[in-house]
Amino acid sequence: MEKKRILVGITGGIAAYKVPQLIRLLKKAGAEVKAVCTPWALRFVGDETLRTITGFPVYRDGQEFYDIEHIRLAEWTDLLAICPATANTIAKMAHGIADNLLTTTAISILPEKILLAPAMNTAMWQNAATQENVAILKKRGMTMLPVGEGELACKTIGPGRMLEVEEIAGIILSRLTPEPILAGKKVLISLGPTEEPLDPVRVMTNRSSGKMGAALARSALKFGAQVVLVSGPVTVSLPDAARLVKVRTAAEMREAMLREFGEADICVMAAAVSDFRPLSVAASKIRRTEGQRLTIELAANPDILAELGRLKEQRYVVGFALETDDGEASARRKKAEKGCDMMILNKADDALEADTTRMTLFTGSEAESFPLQSKTEAADCIMRRIAGLAG
Ligand code: C5P
Repeated sequence: MEKKRILVGITGGIAAYKVPQLIRLLKKAGAEVKAVCTPWALRFVGDETLRTITGFPVYRDGQEFYDIEHIRLAEWTDLLAICPATANTIAKMAHGIADNLLTTTAISILPEKILLAPAMNTAMWQNAATQENVAILKKRGMTMLPVGEGELACKTIGPGRMLEVEEIAGIILSRLTPEPILAGKKVLISLGPTEEPLDPVRVMTNRSSGKMGAALARSALKFGAQVVLVSGPVTVSLPDAARLVKVRTAAEMREAMLREFGEADICVMAAAVSDFRPLSVAASKIRRTEGQRLTIELAANPDILAELGRLKEQRYVVGFALETDDGEASARRKKAEKGCDMMILNKADDALEADTTRMTLFTGSEAESFPLQSKTEAADCIMRRIAGLAG
């Protein structure tokens, strides 16, 4: 297998002295590691030490590097792990500031490929500015490790310690070499809204970005599955490794899902299917006249998930329930009515068009609630649970 390439970003916190040990653990596990430092980091950890342990020059400001070094580093790496991440660097990243080689590199990398291990004094950690900046980075999809509690360098006792390097190394390595828990499985995922035409230019639709479906697809691919996506109109980027079937209306989605369902082992209906469609579609653009009242007669669309639930046999079928109130009872009812193995409850306020979600999974008679997390993390939880439960 190809060596994983890890870029360790080091900022100016006392915990930087532990980073050579982290790099040693990552290298021992077979990874290639480069270190990129802020100017202050090098007051806590030696350039010579990092160069010797990584086997590469230390990437830092003021060196005679190629002037697009940040882009080259961004393209080189599979994961940027910023350990320790100070309040200052977290704040700069939250606001898109790129004033040194590390922050310039960070802004050139997809948020999903960035992990931060914060370390700072308790008051700095608990400061509202830091907490808001942490929330911003999480919302963009970065992985923010928790802080540990204990005696800090400043002798205060409280939260703010960097996690132990053994724990950080374990998290980094499991992120980069996920278990093939869905190897050999075919996963069919619907996503995005559907559009129901009223006339040649107008449509009825649902608010849906497709972000959850895209995250589920990435997660399933990462765990070794083959993925087919049946997608309504979305602008979110979808993984190239998945086969894409584009649809527009609920009727087209139904047809595509029924066609692809035969081959699938696992099916996740993450699409926001329009429940209704205009009964008739005007042949030309409907004209507006002053003071006019227009009545449009709607017909109910077929419930695709319920139909798949009836045909499912040994397949594992998952649905989503997006509710505007607490919704537990309706999620349980929908799970039974639609014949699903798993129903995932989201609240509209938390999930719609966002990069994060707060979900509850209903399987059998069990319910499992998760805290607010990125859709990338939520998708991994869902796929792990499916892998454990699907035959
Ligand atoms: O009943 P409700 O629309 O809340 O159910 C949501 C679940 O059912 C989602 O998984 C959605 O993709 C699916 N659904 C469907 N066909 C419809 C409406 C919803 O498959 N017509």
